[in-house]
Amino acid sequence: MAYDFDKIARDYDRMNRLMTLGLDCRWRRRAVRTARLHAGDRVLDVACGTGDMLALLQRSGCSATGIDLSGDMLAQAQCKVPEATLMQGDAERLPFDDATFDAVTCAFGVRNFVHLEVGLKEMLRVLKPGGCMVILELATPDSTLVRPFYNLYTRKIIPWLGARLAGSREAYTYLPQSIERFPKGEAFRQALLSAGASNARHGKLTFGVCRIYETVK
Ligand SMILES: C[S@@+](CC[C@H](N)C(=O)[O-])C[C@H]1O[C@@H](n2cnc3c(N)ncnc32)[C@H](O)[C@@H]1O
Repeated sequence: MAYDFDKIARDYDRMNRLMTLGLDCRWRRRAVRTARLHAGDRVLDVACGTGDMLALLQRSGCSATGIDLSGDMLAQAQCKVPEATLMQGDAERLPFDDATFDAVTCAFGVRNFVHLEVGLKEMLRVLKPGGCMVILELATPDSTLVRPFYNLYTRKIIPWLGARLAGSREAYTYLPQSIERFPKGEAFRQALLSAGASNARHGKLTFGVCRIYETVK
């Protein structure tokens, strides 16, 4: 079953900024630049959450549509980006025709899909030929020097912050556990290819704690 983000929707943005020291905003800006968008492009942001990516897409002159499972996350997005089209729905059953969007983005969402391959296939299906799909996802860093600090931070400090500031130790214990379980780098690139992408590239952001994946249909 998918993790229920309703529980943490109200404090989600504040926790994100604090946990990543604001780097999440920089990573999303990088994703938007990578998608090589043009004004007027129709862009779908999958698992849009509270709408941070949608706000950037709108600012680039695109027509942004966001879809998410969580009604409470979408309620936050509605306040942040009232002009975006928002829909409550499942990435694994996207309610759009084939080849509807010029670009598809997904920031920190794919890790939460119940069936990763189904979600990726759906995202590729609704993308127009020639369109770009950009995915951001958190990952454990490869460096053995960085790893002990990362483990201390994600296993001890983040759950503590989650309990104090968002009232949910459980949600912020789930976060590092889900990151550790999730395929990263080449493994995720292979998942994209298995889902039908004909090409895929990946890069590391901030010592590899965030990964960016790009495929052109
Ligand atoms: C970590 S948040 C990321 C939110 C946002 N994209 C961001 O950049 O902050 C993960 C989001 O994925 C959504 N989600 C998880 N599984 C989903 C699915 N199958 N379909 C649509 N949304 C999903 C959750 O409801 C949650 O809002």
